[in-house]
Amino acid sequence: MKFYVSTPIYYVNAKPHIGHAYTTLAADIISRWRLMRGDDVFFLTGTDEHGAKIEKAAVENGKEPKVFADEVSEEFKRAWGELGILYSDFIRTTEPRHESGVARFMEILKKNSALYEADYKGLYCTGCENFITEKELVGGKCPNHKKAPDKISERNWFFKLSDYTNEIKELIERDELKIRPDFARRETLGLIEQGLEDFSVSRESVWWGIPLPWDKKQTIYVWIDALLNYITASEWNKCKAPWPADLHIIGKDIIKFHCVYWPAMLLAAGFELPRQIFAHGYFTIDGQKMSKSLGNVIDPIELVSSFGKDGARYLIISQFPFGQDGDVKAEFFAEQYNASLANGLGNLVSRVSSAFLRTNSKLSKCNDKCEVGHVWSGIEKHYENFAIEEVLKEVWKLIQSSDKIVEQEKIWSLKAGQKEASKIFYLLFENIRHISFMVKPFLPDVSEKIFDILGISCEGKKFFKEASVWGALPEGVRVKKCVPLFPRK
Ligand code: MSP
Repeated sequence: MKFYVSTPIYYVNAKPHIGHAYTTLAADIISRWRLMRGDDVFFLTGTDEHGAKIEKAAVENGKEPKVFADEVSEEFKRAWGELGILYSDFIRTTEPRHESGVARFMEILKKNSALYEADYKGLYCTGCENFITEKELVGGKCPNHKKAPDKISERNWFFKLSDYTNEIKELIERDELKIRPDFARRETLGLIEQGLEDFSVSRESVWWGIPLPWDKKQTIYVWIDALLNYITASEWNKCKAPWPADLHIIGKDIIKFHCVYWPAMLLAAGFELPRQIFAHGYFTIDGQKMSKSLGNVIDPIELVSSFGKDGARYLIISQFPFGQDGDVKAEFFAEQYNASLANGLGNLVSRVSSAFLRTNSKLSKCNDKCEVGHVWSGIEKHYENFAIEEVLKEVWKLIQSSDKIVEQEKIWSLKAGQKEASKIFYLLFENIRHISFMVKPFLPDVSEKIFDILGISCEGKKFFKEASVWGALPEGVRVKKCVPLFPRK
């Protein structure tokens, strides 16, 4: 089955932080899970590089926008490399393939009479890259950026949003356009009910953008430019992503753009809609919004250098339930790492393998089945519900029950040749093997290392449905000495 998943494309006004890493990692984990199930996965991410916000950041850094965008976009790629993100394509909105695709899509909207020209007089927040109304202001300022918005008066091209909102509402209500979790669905329906105004698709006073093909004095509004990445990276534009997208993963801050504007644009142009949109919650750090001025921005690359790739992945994704907001306390990272990874998973593998190697190095097969079928079914359900943290809970329950066997059976005192010993070790290694598969989407390197210790390869195992078939360690496996999986901090 094909599975096309995307993240938002991130602004290149500053280097990536843990919030961007959170979304990208979630998409990566879901992709890796789908790959393990045997799906044909396409995972798209990228960077959003046009608009006044980026131009301003470039000026502040004394650089041309394109030069600046090149540098910061590289930083995103580097961070995703360090975190082991397995994306299929990385799209940049300054690439010619994107720019020409956007121009072509706009022509379709115009041809389908979805656009009209009018004057816009109102407020604009460059930080949000959003037209904003008086009633959204708090004390005269944008509530997100705590700055007074600009007053603008421009001749723009507008999109006839009101022509499409009823249809979108019905599609959401019939769950043909799935919006999850429920708060995001309710928020979207609420926005539509409240009544949304037609929006500008072009800007007259912004030069750093894609020119509107039939009116070159205007550039395409950066949000329209950005949303179109999902389709300019697709087969429609001679690229590889298989439209329609199966899942857009976004943060809750950009629900309106993805759940209303984007479907409306697609309907107007006669495209299929994405199947599902999932909005997750927001991180605060020690109770505060992440910001450069507060100096509380967590850099994912620094996290990798402190805790390793898999350690950082675990810490980023396990902070709070996916879909809810949560607060992160960086001072607890080391504690969490030691408790769950070093003393949890790492310790289990190291204790079992070293106790076994003291008695033997070749594992003899035993016919007792290791009972993990229900754990796998639970995991599959949790993925369907995007309950990523529940997947981890299931695995850690299995780690704990394996630890219990280690203690109860006092495996360190078992002797070679004891009939019970080979059975106990066999079952423990079977548990470990399953655990290694279960953590593979989260901890890909450690999972490889565990397979190596067990002397087996997990490659080519598109396994899930055949869990009972592949569920056995072969006779005579040579267990290797355990390398430290998670050095204590
Ligand atoms: N460029 C637009 C998106 C265009 S998509 C067609 C944009 N970029 S952004 O750089 O601001 O990234 C926003 C996304 O980053 C959020 O939707 C969310 O996925 C992620 N996060 C940014 N800060 C975050 C937190 N503090 N917490 C969790 N996720 C965060 O908006």
